[in-house]
Order: sequence, then structure tokens, then C-alpha cells
Amino acid sequence: MGDLTTVILAAGAGTRMKSEKAKVAHEAAGRSLLGWVMAAAEDAGSVRSIVVVGHQAEEVAALVPPGSECVFQAQRLGTGHAVRMAAERFTPETDSVLVLCGDTPLLRGDTLKSAWGNHRDSGCSATVLTAMPGDPTGYGRILRNAEGHVAGIVEHKDATPEQREIREINTGVFLFKASALLEALPLLENKNSQGEYYLTDTLAILIGLGGLVGSHLVADPQETIGVNDRTQLAEADSVLQKRIRERHMKSGVSFRLPETSWIAHDVEIGPDTLILPGCMLEKGTVVGPGCIIGPHTRITGSVISGGVTIANSVVTESEIGEETKVGPFAYLRPGSRIGRHVKIGDFVEIKKSVIGDDTKISHLTYVGDAEVGQRVNLGCGVVVVNYDGHVKNRTVIGNDAFVGCNTNLVSPVEVKEHAYIAAGSTITQEVPAYALGIARSRQTVLEDWVRRKGFDKSGGK
Ligand code: UD1
Ligand code: CA
Repeated sequence: MGDLTTVILAAGAGTRMKSEKAKVAHEAAGRSLLGWVMAAAEDAGSVRSIVVVGHQAEEVAALVPPGSECVFQAQRLGTGHAVRMAAERFTPETDSVLVLCGDTPLLRGDTLKSAWGNHRDSGCSATVLTAMPGDPTGYGRILRNAEGHVAGIVEHKDATPEQREIREINTGVFLFKASALLEALPLLENKNSQGEYYLTDTLAILIGLGGLVGSHLVADPQETIGVNDRTQLAEADSVLQKRIRERHMKSGVSFRLPETSWIAHDVEIGPDTLILPGCMLEKGTVVGPGCIIGPHTRITGSVISGGVTIANSVVTESEIGEETKVGPFAYLRPGSRIGRHVKIGDFVEIKKSVIGDDTKISHLTYVGDAEVGQRVNLGCGVVVVNYDGHVKNRTVIGNDAFVGCNTNLVSPVEVKEHAYIAAGSTITQEVPAYALGIARSRQTVLEDWVRRKGFDKSGGK
């Protein structure tokens, strides 16, 4: 059994997206459209991918992982011309060729794999993947002879009214014997309504040369949808979301109102985790087992250990240790490493800081560029004053320290272990271990001041 080489057509402009960005670079479920297509080819067993780039060639080439190749199509002269560019890279070892378009993110690897199997078993020179969508408008139609064999493809724009009645369409996915494809490509002509070299014409050419052409019906027409505009992009994203959620549910994850949460393709979630409504779990996120995430929580590029609770919060590029509770309404910014059994409560913001195990930061606090030890208590309204207008400075708080409410820690500053800080202090110097730091003016009481000033609302009665 020979190898499978994939050619992916991605040179088009995608003008209907109305975007500065190349169409295939747009993302669905956190992965570029081209990335989805390349992954499907790999899942199908393809050993080599050649991506045809043209419009915004550099940006598109940047999406192609090392190990795959790009060829440049300087002029977009049609799908047949695009495949010709890729065919220049074929070697004597190139056996079966799978042709895909870069804008069909819903194609499954399994579908391509079984089509490849059928193609090999049939001995056909080419196999076209077809579908029966509800509305075939715009697609190339499959022409069949009296015996029902594929006779060719006619593009919608070139079709007669009778041909437009045909419901079976060309999905744009083909499998070829490399030798047959190499024979047909030079024979393509551009005598059609668009003046293009159509890949679809290779089928009639191969039949004319005495070859056999087969077809493989894709059962679910939704898989073959091409993304041409923003509406289709949103549709593709929601189809992928459904698949992603189902995969997680199968592996033991629970969702409340599943359709209200959005999960990137590469996110991992442990069993017995519950995702509450309105969550976004973005690229590079790993959630451990037995967590409760949400409602309304956004996590990006972060690692959440088992048993963690995060409610109504935003977590970006951070790590959270086991059994820690975050939120409601907390904001963990990049570079935060939160330990185990920690409490990060409401309206707490942490940036680029390490928080030790069993520490409590329960309300209305900002911690930036700090190292906070274990079993520390930061009272309500503590502010780490990390920025002096020029540079960010570090604050270090030792194990078992207790920082009273409404304290400013003017960085760089160190609070040693077991130290206490009196509420309302503005700390600018080191507080030694086991000491009490108090930095506020002493209270003055002026006896009978209200009456003396004549402010007494009871009128002296
Ligand atoms: C093509 C098929 C049509 C099929 C449909 C399925 C042809 C002639 N028509 O039509 O039968 O039903 O796909 O979606 O093949 N591209 C290049 N270089 C080019 C031209 C196109 O790389 O010179 C790429 C495009 O970026 C796109 C793909 O090829 O990814 C398909 O081209 P497009 O112009 O969208 O073809 P359709 O008109 O959709
Ligand atoms: Ca198209």
C-alpha cells in the first residue's frame, strides 16, 4: 500500500470575508481553517502535505507547520493550475494524491480515510467526493452516464438549466493516482465562463484516456461546507463547538447549558469537572479533574489543577494549584502561579506573582510582581504598590505573615515571615520576622468637637 500525499489549495483571496487577513488564516474553535484541513489530512493517514499559497502567501505559509511544504501560485488561474504547481513537487514515490481546499474545516479525518480506502480498492484513476446538500447552488454538479458512472463535472456557472437540477455536487475533494493526475494536468484548457483551468475537468480527461473515475458520497453534507463569509465561519465554529463539547462529555465532563460555553480545540478537561454556563476555555488551557468552572469565566493558556473552583473570573497564562478557590470576580493576569488550597476572593487582581499554599486573599486586593508565602493572610483592600512610574519593583511576603486591611506595600519591600502589619499602614521598609509593622498617624480625639463647632443636629436638646 502506497503513501498518501495531500495537496491543499489555499491561494485564493477569500474576498467575501471582507478581511485584511487571508481567509484560511481565520480561526474556528481556536484553530485556523487551514490548520483544521491539515489535521484532517494527517488523521486520514497522509504522510506529506503540499499547501498551494498565493494571496498573502507569507501569512498563510506561516500557518503551515514545519515538515509540510508550501508552493507559490503567482497567478490564480484556477484549481487545476493550482494543483499543477503542487505536482511539480511530486516524486516517483508519490502514489495517491488527496486534493483538499483550505477552507473546509468540518471535514473529518475518518471520512477522508474511508474515501481513500474505497479509492484504492476500486483501482480508479480518480475518485471525487460528492454530497447531496439541501441547496446545490454554486457548486459543480456531478454528471453521470446512462449506467450511472461519473462522466464529468460541470461548474454551476457553466451548467445548463437541466444540469442545475442535479443535486449531487462536487465537494472539491478528490483522490487521484499520481500518475493519472500527472497525465491529465497538462491537458487542461481554460475554455469556460471563468477562463480558468478547472481541476474538475481532469475527470472527463481521464475517462477520455480510458481511465476509471469513481465517486464517494459523503453522508453528512455539513462536513463539506466551505467557509466563504463570516456567517459560514460562525456556523463552522458552532459545529466544531458541538463536536468538542461532545468529546469532553464522553470523557466525563459535565456541562450546564452546554451550548453557552466555548472551548478551543486543544483544551484538555479532566473527568468530573463541571462547566457552568457562559464559559470560554481558550487555547492552551488544561483543566484538571473535579473542578467547577464558571459561570461566566474566561480562561486562556492556563493550567488549572484538580478540585479547583473558579466563578465569574478571568484567568490568563497562569497556573492554579489543587483545591484553590477563585472568584467571584477575580482577575489573574499573565505569570501568576497560585498554590494549593488558596483563596482568591472577589475583586482581587493578581499579576506576575507567586502565591504560596493555604494563603487567603479574600477581597478587594491588588498583588503585582510579588512573592507571597504560605498561610499568608492579606486583608481586605491590600495594595501592592509595584510601580513607581518608572519601573516595576518586587515585593516579598514571608510565610505566615498577616497583612491588615487597607495596607499599601510600597515596592520594593519585604515583609518577613510571621510578621503582622497594622490595618491602614503604608509600608515602605522591611518588617522583620515576628514584628508588628505600623505605619499610620496616631488617632487624635477632640472631645465635644461637634457641639463646639455648632454641628449638633439635635439642636442641643
Ligand atoms: C470548486 C469546484 C466546484 C466545487 C467547489 C466545492 C473547481 C473548478 N470547482 O469551486 O466544482 O463544487 O469547489 O467547494 O474546482 N484556489 C487556488 N488557486 C486558484 C483557484 C482556487 O488555490 O487559482 C483555491 C481557492 O483558494 C479555494 C479552492 O482552490 O481554496 C477552491 O477554489 P474556488 O475558486 O473557491 O472554487 P469554487 O468556485 O468554490
Ligand atoms: Ca469555494
